[in-house]
This record gives sequence, C-alpha cells and structure tokens, in this order.
Amino acid sequence: MKVRGFALIFLCTALLCGCGVQQEDTYVQLESPGYEEEMSGEDITPDSEADTGTAAVVDGDTEGMPEQENIPETEAETEAEPEAEPETEPVGPVIETVDGCTYADGVLIVNKSYTVPENYGSGITTETQTAFDSMQAAAAQEGITLFICSGFRSYSYQNTLYTNYVARDGQTAADTYSARPGHSEHQTGLALDINSTDGSMATSPEGLWLAEHCAEYGFVIRYPAGKEHITGYMYEPWHIRYLGIDLAAELTEKGLTLEEYFGLTSVYPEE
Ligand code: DAL
Ligand code: ZN
Repeated sequence: MKVRGFALIFLCTALLCGCGVQQEDTYVQLESPGYEEEMSGEDITPDSEADTGTAAVVDGDTEGMPEQENIPETEAETEAEPEAEPETEPVGPVIETVDGCTYADGVLIVNKSYTVPENYGSGITTETQTAFDSMQAAAAQEGITLFICSGFRSYSYQNTLYTNYVARDGQTAADTYSARPGHSEHQTGLALDINSTDGSMATSPEGLWLAEHCAEYGFVIRYPAGKEHITGYMYEPWHIRYLGIDLAAELTEKGLTLEEYFGLTSVYPEE
C-alpha cells in the first residue's frame, strides 16, 4: 500500500508539473492579444501571412521572455523615438499691410474685414484680363459664350451701387450681396462678374462651365454656395476672382474659400 501510495503521489506531482508547463505556454499566448486574434482565425495555415504575423507578435511580447530577445526590440524603440515628427503649431500666412492694402502671403485680400484705399485701382489688371481672354477662347471652342458684365469698379461707383441697394432693400439685405465702398474686390481689378448676376449662372451651361474650368485659368468662384457665413456674401456663381493658376487650383481642389485657406475673417468692424 505504501508503494502504491508513493507511486500515486509521484504520478500526481508529475501531472501537476506538466500542467504548469502547459499553463506557462498558454500564459504567453494569452498575454498577446494579437496572437489571440490570429489564433481565433479559422483558416490559418503554416505558411500564411497570419502565421507569420503570429510569430511576430509572440516575438514582440516582452513579458516573461528571455532578456536577450528583448534587447533588439528595446533598442529599436529607443532609436525610433528621435525619428518621430515633432509636434508643431500650424504656421499661418504672412500678413502684410502695404499702402493701406492687406496681403496674405502676397495675395491681396479684400472682404468685409479688409479694405483697399479710396484711390486704389484703375482697371482690370493685365494678368486678370489675359487669363479671362484665354478662358473665353477655350469656352468658345466648346460653344460656350462668356463675357464680362462687370469688371473694375471704382470706390465712388461701388458707393453709388451700394447706396442704391441699401435704399431699395435695406442695409441688412444689401450687405449680403453688395460690398460697401472700399470693401469690394471689383475695386482691385482682380474680380469679374461673368455673363449675368440674376442667378441663372447657377444652372446655365455657361455658369456650369465656368465653375468647372475657371481654376484652370487662375480664377475661383469667390462666394460659393454653403460658405455664406465665411465669405460674408450670398452665393454668387458669376463672381470670379483671379488668384493665379496654382492657388486657384489648390483652393478649388480643397474646396476652400480664400478666408478658410488663410484663416481670415470677413466681417464688418461693428458686427
Ligand atoms: N457683389 C460683391 C460682394 C461686391 O459687391 O463686390
Ligand atoms: Zn462681382
């Protein structure tokens, strides 16, 4: 009986030690969630990517692993740290005021927040006219007729227009579609109204062509639909602003207004 008793104790001890080993293996596996996930996959084959992934995860487990195996991983992490991109604040545009005009990264800004002096401007700029001529010719090739219905507007002409609109519709309404004198892009010679300002440009073949192609010639639809709260003006599918091809293309591609692109406001001082 004693012999049997010892044999039984020996057998139990051996079994318990065996379980311990198994438990340790299981522990390593469970310590690695990735491994668990891989193992739960139904179609793991020895040469599959999943299998390779499993090995990588187990190797990457730092707990309970031999020190030697941890060294390369630790070194790799230490070396990788300096390569991480340093967190930097976004850099805004360079804002300059020259002779009463405001430039953001060299781009003249005129809106409800930024003015040009009363005596600024003398006509459509050469670059703007040249760009329009090219666009007009390209449109004509496709049977689309484009023409300028309003180009350069002096301070005094804008004053007359705005005053009349205020008398007709009241200031609050007028401010949604007409710039106060000194605040109109038309005074810069860089803005043009194309074909019609009656709203038909939103859906006409000419208006649709303009929206699709004007950036190719350096223009943007300056007051897009849905951006009224940003530009300060109602949707004007006829009003284009010359910015040059690169900037016009970037703004159009990103769907940004000039205000959004440069992080600027368009509000009158008292608003
Ligand atoms: N219609 C635009 C806002 C202007 O008057 O300049
Ligand atoms: Zn206009």
